[in-house]
Amino acid sequence: MTPEIGLTQTSRHARHGSNIGQPLTRRDGILKVRGEAPYAADQHPAGMLHAVLAVSTIARGRVTFLDVNAAKSHPGVVDVMTPAHKPPLAEDPDAKTNPFMFRMELLQNDAVRYAYQPIAVVIAETLEAATEGAALLAPTYEIQPARVGLDSNDSFVPPAVGVGHPAVIERGDVEAGLASASKRIEAIYETPAQYHNAMEPHAIVAAWDGDALSIDTPTQGLAMAQGRIAGLFGLSADKIHIRSPFLGGGFGSKGLISGPQILGIMAARLVGKPVKLVFRREQMYGPVGHRAPTRQRLRVGADGEGRLAALDHHAKITSSSFDDFFEPAADASHTLYASPAIRSSHEAVRVDTGTPLFMRAPGEATGSIALESAIDEMASACGIDPLDFRLKNYAEVEPISGKPFSSKALRQCYAQGAERFGWSKRPPAPRQMRDEAGFLVGWGMGTATFPALMFQGAARAVVRSDGSGVMETGAHDMGQGAWTALAQIAADGLGLDLDRVEFRSGTSDLPDAGIAGGSAHTATAGMAIHNAGAAVIAKLADLATSDQRSPLFGAGNAGVIARDGRLFRRDDETRGDSYVDILTRAGLTEIEARGTGTANPAAQADYAMHAHGAVFVEVKVDPDLGQVRVTRAVGAFAAGRIINPRLVRSQLFGGMIWGVSFALHEEAVIDRRSGRIMNPNLAEYHVPVNADVPSLDVLLVDEHDPHVNALGIKGVGEIGVTGSAGAVANAVWHATGVRVRRFPIRIDDLVVGHQ
Ligand code: MOS
Repeated sequence: MTPEIGLTQTSRHARHGSNIGQPLTRRDGILKVRGEAPYAADQHPAGMLHAVLAVSTIARGRVTFLDVNAAKSHPGVVDVMTPAHKPPLAEDPDAKTNPFMFRMELLQNDAVRYAYQPIAVVIAETLEAATEGAALLAPTYEIQPARVGLDSNDSFVPPAVGVGHPAVIERGDVEAGLASASKRIEAIYETPAQYHNAMEPHAIVAAWDGDALSIDTPTQGLAMAQGRIAGLFGLSADKIHIRSPFLGGGFGSKGLISGPQILGIMAARLVGKPVKLVFRREQMYGPVGHRAPTRQRLRVGADGEGRLAALDHHAKITSSSFDDFFEPAADASHTLYASPAIRSSHEAVRVDTGTPLFMRAPGEATGSIALESAIDEMASACGIDPLDFRLKNYAEVEPISGKPFSSKALRQCYAQGAERFGWSKRPPAPRQMRDEAGFLVGWGMGTATFPALMFQGAARAVVRSDGSGVMETGAHDMGQGAWTALAQIAADGLGLDLDRVEFRSGTSDLPDAGIAGGSAHTATAGMAIHNAGAAVIAKLADLATSDQRSPLFGAGNAGVIARDGRLFRRDDETRGDSYVDILTRAGLTEIEARGTGTANPAAQADYAMHAHGAVFVEVKVDPDLGQVRVTRAVGAFAAGRIINPRLVRSQLFGGMIWGVSFALHEEAVIDRRSGRIMNPNLAEYHVPVNADVPSLDVLLVDEHDPHVNALGIKGVGEIGVTGSAGAVANAVWHATGVRVRRFPIRIDDLVVGHQ
């Protein structure tokens, strides 16, 4: 079931003129607070069975025995899917023909490549029976020693980082720059593995009808998921219908469909009934991607005036033993600070974990915490205020490419954020401020940046003869507000009030809106919607301007504008015609058109496109116990046109909270003997709760970008985490005088005895 959204709700803000730019509340908000928004695991088709994953407790080796008979004898267990008993696949799950293919464990053999890898699936009439059946499998293993951590295997230069970026890039002569510098720092920063803990674990309900497949599952990429399933099962894509109206968070983990989701489909095939498979929390700690740990070495040189002479950023990262995703951490140094010489380089080791993959700002988040720390260290070494130092090294063009920026309001972000925070009162030296209770107070800052990307998207627009409109695009609402922001663009594109537009989204039978990732969804799907709207308006205009009965007859050259369900002559707004009249006279019940959204390659060749921001943080540190609290954070961000400031602020709050989490909380702790993550649950894998989140303030800085796309949208999903983590670390230094370079910062790093 796909929910009806929006036709009943109007907003006071949106009655007149533009919907874009209005701080509308979420159109799905009422459904969500009432618990009526249908998530995948809420589906219960008739005859449905429950599947439970059995996962490996070792990190490397082979499964030598599964007690399938014991599991099958348990009351309610229907079948047990194993490498020896599973439906055939049309494609090798280890095949990889493009970087967006994620290798999967689909019971293709008895090999174990990481802990929490699926090794069998038990299907039963109840969740309890399936869970018990999985426990009864009592696997035995042939165990090989697990390779864990950045020093556990030989390193190599990866073939590419991220999705196809060169692993090593140098502009200028870094060694010469360092040699000539009058101030040099060299420091090593370490970031831990982070695992996905979206509120909604991955889940799937799959039902086969002959060779047609119907699925409820959360995905950030409907069309890519559909394509992958089609390949694996040898189906044409139009046989596969995926519903993904809501995601309880994605953060990259739902960008590419994961192995266990496919196992749910295989299980349904095996038993010939609908099957539901929901991941247990710990099962998120293997097969759905994670943020790779990094060890980053920054070498920075500056001249006597505090101008950068060289910036060398080297990142050592992990990937799995069987697939190729390499966190592009060092690329974070490409864009922010002007330096005559910049080098980014990567080095990787293969370890026995699931394959790392996208996690909110992959590369930028990890790289930014090291870069912003190093910049702070260099500012201090030069005796310059950290904000002044960043202004002194402000990049007027993109440093790594020399291209001009399509727009860059970072100076305004610095100025407005600093003003709001009160940065000018910051004493330069650390350990200078205390509050009334005696806590050490510190202020730190970081710069935020994230590329303004676009993928390929499409949309279909319809105007009906009753004056209403429809906009269709298979977009994804992960909680960021796509149902609302994209509908706002749709209403403006159609020249209709929001309550006259039916916005259809979240299913695979709609035009492909492109992946909801890379902070590119609003730009990509939004431009598709904008262009589809313009195309259908152009068709209406053709009808009207060539119809002698229309007040717009002959206005073709002057052009028309669309507003409030009417077209107007651009040169004489007293002359207009309604959509109803235009279509009725033409004898049409509706008219439709399609549009696409994609980056403009010519503009991309000419300009560097990035969103920017400045984050200012206050921490208080207990001088005796070393406990750190973030007490205030101000972020000022410039990200082109803001479609919905309420939702954008919410995205930026979320990103900044992840920055706090990165600096102070999150870490997957791996047992070096077993290769198992020891804290695969929300009790022991720390993420901030309300008490950890300070007063947050987000300023949206005006920025007009004529190059990124016609709407001027840059994207906001990921930038908030960049800059923020470094700002926390820099504030901790300012409070305590202790420079912690291994994240998250621990109490042990700050207790008095260590100072
Ligand atoms: Mo994002 S890590 O591209 O979902």
